[in-house]
Amino acid sequence: MVSPLVALTPKVQSAIATALGDDFRDADPVLRPSQFADVQVNAALALAKKAGMPPREVAGKIVDALDLDGVCDTVEVSGPGFINLTFADAWLASLLREVEADERNGVPLQQSENIPIDYSAPNVAKEMHVGHLRTTIVGDSLARTLEHLGHNVIRQNHIGDWGTPFGMLIEHLLEVGEDSPEAELLVSNPNAFYQAARTKFDTAEKAEPHGSAGDFDVRSRARVVKLQAGDPETLQHWHDLVGMSKAYFNKVYSTLGVTLTDDDLAGESTYNDHLAAICDELESKGLATMSDGALCVFLEGYTGREGKPVPLIIRKSDGGYNYGTTDLATIRYRVSTLGAHRVLYVVGAPQALHFSMVWETARRAGWLPDDVEPVHVQIGNVLGEDRKILRTRSGASLRLMALLEEAVDKARALIDTNRPDLDESTRATIARQIGIGAVKYADLSVAHDSEYVFDLDRMVALTGNTGPYLQYVVARIRSIFRQVGLDPTAQHAPLLLGEAPERALGVHLLGFGDVVAEVGDTYEPHRLAAYLFELAQAFSAFYENCPVLKAERDEVKESRLTLCALTLRVMRAGLDMLGLESPEQM
Ligand code: ARG
Repeated sequence: MVSPLVALTPKVQSAIATALGDDFRDADPVLRPSQFADVQVNAALALAKKAGMPPREVAGKIVDALDLDGVCDTVEVSGPGFINLTFADAWLASLLREVEADERNGVPLQQSENIPIDYSAPNVAKEMHVGHLRTTIVGDSLARTLEHLGHNVIRQNHIGDWGTPFGMLIEHLLEVGEDSPEAELLVSNPNAFYQAARTKFDTAEKAEPHGSAGDFDVRSRARVVKLQAGDPETLQHWHDLVGMSKAYFNKVYSTLGVTLTDDDLAGESTYNDHLAAICDELESKGLATMSDGALCVFLEGYTGREGKPVPLIIRKSDGGYNYGTTDLATIRYRVSTLGAHRVLYVVGAPQALHFSMVWETARRAGWLPDDVEPVHVQIGNVLGEDRKILRTRSGASLRLMALLEEAVDKARALIDTNRPDLDESTRATIARQIGIGAVKYADLSVAHDSEYVFDLDRMVALTGNTGPYLQYVVARIRSIFRQVGLDPTAQHAPLLLGEAPERALGVHLLGFGDVVAEVGDTYEPHRLAAYLFELAQAFSAFYENCPVLKAERDEVKESRLTLCALTLRVMRAGLDMLGLESPEQM
């Protein structure tokens, strides 16, 4: 199953070789969408110098060698040497028939690879912030897309569930009691729980004379030591604490409709038993050395101010391990145990240096073979209206659940206005689908490494490049079929592409498979988002200009219903890969 552009590529390539000689066999034909035709071939301009001819002459030679019988109706040289191609309608219709007959809508099934994807990764007893929201949403979309392309995706939720703060968190939990309202904060407002523990710790530590405010700090430190020594009772408390945080994460995931479950948890603590061996091995291989009491890896080219080498610290002077140590463990485990062909880390952009040092170290240690590609899918910041990192007015980081509730409320207000005829529970369902969809789409429709301003009103709008706008197309097509009591899945009439908007919609539908494959290669869901937005626009133009139910002839009506049904299928499949729901009505 191929799109017109992909089908055309080898034909143009062979024409270039015929026209210019065998040296040009692998030349890029430079196919681009065109304003004036279906495709523009720009190769003549790119190759003119090497061919030693003016571009227009090169273009002429390529055109003479092109064999596009049955594929293109017109082939024209224009301007300085562009070649404009217009597809034959019959050829397009035949390609579209293939897509229509394919239950995968033209999306290729690729050779299956093992692909661990590290995403979401919030920290225990801390509120998930909008940054975590974004890695969760982008990561989930990549997981869905790569799975759809046939890969064995292994979700890895590397939660922060270990480290020194756990001493104070456990002590605080013990003091307030596991069934207390204070402990319940772990599930409803984790930051408040964390802050309460932190305040107690700081107060005790700073009290003069020390001890006058109790010994919470001393107990907390002792608790860390017990935790690290594997004291069973302490481990049990730790377990309870993590369990409550998991309940909070799962609440967020189910609200968002994210595919992560408890089975995907692979937090920092899972690697505890690997860390000593990692350090030993790096030391014995001569890759790690002691510096100021800490075990460090120094890598060439990693220098800070005044050319001072920046170390990757893998064991602190107090014997504790670091974020870097656990990430060495993650890459080793994902390669050797999970058999990864590629490994994705969907994590904030500021961690780029960290990953690059970890992977370089892993390569040298022999844990990361050359044919395994680790990828840092960098996530950019979400900004407030003041263009600073999004926070609440009081400056505290924003509560994620509150934000999601607000999105659903806004969507609800919209639905209440637009569809007062629907019953209460239907309106609640739709409000949830589009409120959440709006937030997710905002993350997915911009490049994952760019910053963007979080603006709920813009996100839930029914117009513009928004989730609800795309969902509205789904709802509208469904309502056409509801109106006439037809099943969209039963429409398979021959496709006629007589009118320009029909033809444009058809051509766009042919590109779905390529764009999904591209997302799998580039890890850029915004390409799929952009494709779906254009599809929605192409559909609207078609729907405004080509009457469906009132079409002049029966076969035109059948063809248009089939186009509607195919648009619905592609839109639903695409939205599903983005992780957006497809409402029945809106
Ligand atoms: N918990 C970390 C944070 O909140 C993200 C972890 C990402 N994954 C990893 N393997 N380091 O920043």
